Amino acid sequence: MASSNSLEGMTALITGSGGGMGRSHAVLMSERGADIIVHDIKEDGANETAEMVQKNGRKASVLIADVRDVPDFTAKIKAAEKEHGKIDILVNNAGVSGKHRMIEEIDEAIFDEMFGIQVRGAFFATKTVVEGMKQRKSGRIITISSIYAMGGSDFACHYSAAKAALSGFTKSWARELAPYRIQVNAVAPGFVLTGMTQGSNSPDMIKARGEGMPLGRLTTPEDISYAVAWLASPETEMITGQVISPNAGEVIVGY
Ligand SMILES: NC(=O)c1ccc[n+]([C@@H]2O[C@H](COP(=O)([O-])OP(=O)(O)OC[C@H]3O[C@@H](n4cnc5c(N)ncnc54)[C@H](O)[C@@H]3O)[C@@H](O)[C@H]2O)c1
Repeated sequence: MASSNSLEGMTALITGSGGGMGRSHAVLMSERGADIIVHDIKEDGANETAEMVQKNGRKASVLIADVRDVPDFTAKIKAAEKEHGKIDILVNNAGVSGKHRMIEEIDEAIFDEMFGIQVRGAFFATKTVVEGMKQRKSGRIITISSIYAMGGSDFACHYSAAKAALSGFTKSWARELAPYRIQVNAVAPGFVLTGMTQGSNSPDMIKARGEGMPLGRLTTPEDISYAVAWLASPETEMITGQVISPNAGEVIVGY
């Protein structure tokens, strides 16, 4: 049986790929043959990721924008699409941590930042790439949610709610875009050691979390990238509207 996880000939836009898991997705997807549009708010990080993609022999272009500045962000996506000829894969990955904040600590600015980056950012990136995907009748959209969307959180309800909104988008977009052969799925990681989690958890908390995982260790950025790259590949032509959660067995919910 012929099967392939090759991404040869594809162009992927990965938001927030100037570091953390987004960078890991860019490296793996370029290893599998994709050209990458590296997006981030941070120029240095984005340039470093682009160099890694180029070392894998693939074309990389850098798109610097704050996802909350919708006119600037979407105009730059359109320009990158023109430069590459198409965008086959969108990974909605850019995000910020909820830190450890109780309800009383979440003011309007913190609430708006969370929903502006996670929810508005993913919506307007998707809206921008969908036009070309619909014309070509093909495309993959992979949105990064979280275990906190599925099981809730006792210390970052705004983060959980924003991630749950992304699961709602995923299921709705999957239905709306299926007639155009555009597949939409979400990856909902558990705790992954990146700049984000190192910034909001002490080393002791991180050690305890890893030791407590049913599968015996913390999930790595690469573990998440394998799920993301697979969902972009020809092996998953019949998968849409799903939420896959690489989380070391920490959270198991649903049917
Ligand atoms: N690390 C975890 O344990 C974990 C678990 C579940 C889900 N996630 C999600 O995975 C994704 C990646 O997280 P990570 O851990 O790699 O974090 P990270 O902080 O290492 O990477 C996030 C990237 O998004 C970029 N970004 C942030 N705000 C932006 C903005 N306004 N405009 C443009 N870019 C912006 C950052 O510059 C950064 O490069 C996020 O959506 C996060 O919520 C992380």
